[in-house]
This record gives sequence, C-alpha cells and structure tokens, in this order.
Amino acid sequence: MKRIVCETYDEMSQIGAYVFSEQIWRKPDSVLGFATGGTPAGMYRCLVKMYNDGLVDFSKVTTFNLDEYYPMSKSSSHSYDYFMWDNLFSKINVRRESVYLPNGGAADPEKACDDYERLLESRGGLDIQLLGIGNNGHIAFNEPADELRVRTYVAELTADTIEANSRFFESAADVPRRALTMGMGSIMSARRILMLIAGEKKAPAVKAMFSGRITPKFPASLLQLHPDAVVILDKDAASML
Ligand code: GLP
Repeated sequence: MKRIVCETYDEMSQIGAYVFSEQIWRKPDSVLGFATGGTPAGMYRCLVKMYNDGLVDFSKVTTFNLDEYYPMSKSSSHSYDYFMWDNLFSKINVRRESVYLPNGGAADPEKACDDYERLLESRGGLDIQLLGIGNNGHIAFNEPADELRVRTYVAELTADTIEANSRFFESAADVPRRALTMGMGSIMSARRILMLIAGEKKAPAVKAMFSGRITPKFPASLLQLHPDAVVILDKDAASML
C-alpha cells in the first residue's frame, strides 16, 4: 500500500483527480468506483474543473458507487444518489444509463444487493475504486465486526457511524440504521484502489490502517493486502504515522 502525504486538502483532492483522469486517458471506457462523504467532494470539484477545461471525457465510462442508505429514496437530498448527481454527475458528460448505485428504494433489499453484484460482474469489475475511511476503520459501510461480508449486502450501521454521519441529517435519529454496501470482496476485487483521507480526526484510523496487522475489527486494515492501493493523505491525517 503506497502513500502520498500532501500539504493540504486541496492538493490531496487535485492528485486524486489526476489519478482518476489518468485512468480514463489510458482506458476511456473504464469502470469507475465512486464514494461519498465529505472527503471526496474536493476531488469531484477538481474533476469537474478538468472536464470544463477539456482535459477529461467521461462519455464512455461506467460508474458504480460503494453504498446507499436503506431505506432511502433516490430523490431525497440525503441519498448518496443525490450527493453524486449534485457534486459530480450533473456537471460532467457521463451517460445517465452508465451510472449505478445500490437501490435504496428496493422492496427486497437482499435481491437488490445480489442484482448490484451481478451488474458489477457483468461490466467486468472495477478498474479503480475510490475510498474514504470512517473513524472506526469502516470502508463503504463495512463496519468493524467479528466477520466481514464478501459481496454486496444489507449492513447495520454502528452507533459511531450514525453519530459521525448525523452531520448530514437534522439529527442522529434521522440517520437510517441500515445501508446497502459493497462487501470487502467487491472492493478488494477492484484492479486499483485510491483512498483519500483528510483531517486530524482521522489520524488514529490512519495509524491503525498502516499497522502491519489485519483484523475484521478494523476493516480498512485489509487494504494492506491489495496489490495496487494508493492512499493520499493531507498532513493532518498523516500526523500519527
Ligand atoms: C460514510 C461512507 C464512507 C465514507 C465515510 C467517511 O460512512 N459510507 O464511504 O468513507 O462516510 O466520510 P467522510 O469523508 O465524510 O469522513
């Protein structure tokens, strides 16, 4: 797992945007995995700027997102679907029919997870997956546990995550308790992984991730086994290394 430490959040975001752009330059029909949360918003702004400057073309890409709250309607401003259109998809030339997120509005969530996993496989898997990290070491919504799941599934959010994500809702009581999320195998099957981490609050998680040990109690630690994973950090996030 390689790491790049940047001076600022903006520098981290710009390098992340270059990594994704370079993937698209090399393979215009790349299958891209995107993530939500506060951290990737800056990288999405950089990608929009690069698109507006004529530097990158999204017309042939396919995109899959890591996760979606359940239950959650697409049109809700709290949905990850809304976040992605608002921050990125509506501002670039990606084709609407090539954008996929797990269906938070499905009547049968288990079936929606199986369908999502099959769709991902049918597109040949992910060329590159973007990740953030939760304070408790979660990636997507794979929470610390005795056992981790391999493929897309219905996850229960931990109290820590509900609290951390409550800043995007009116209150913690409004955060959905479940989510549809890619499993650890879906993520680890990506040919490349790019993780962005910013801010002092994440410094203990960064230290645990680079510990040289692997445990389901800290899901991000598994990334140490990935053959092509790059972590870009700002200096605050890297402060305990
Ligand atoms: C959510 C998402 C994760 C993300 C995490 C951290 O729980 N499911 O994919 O990595 O938040 O987000 P932030 O970047 O806002 O700290």
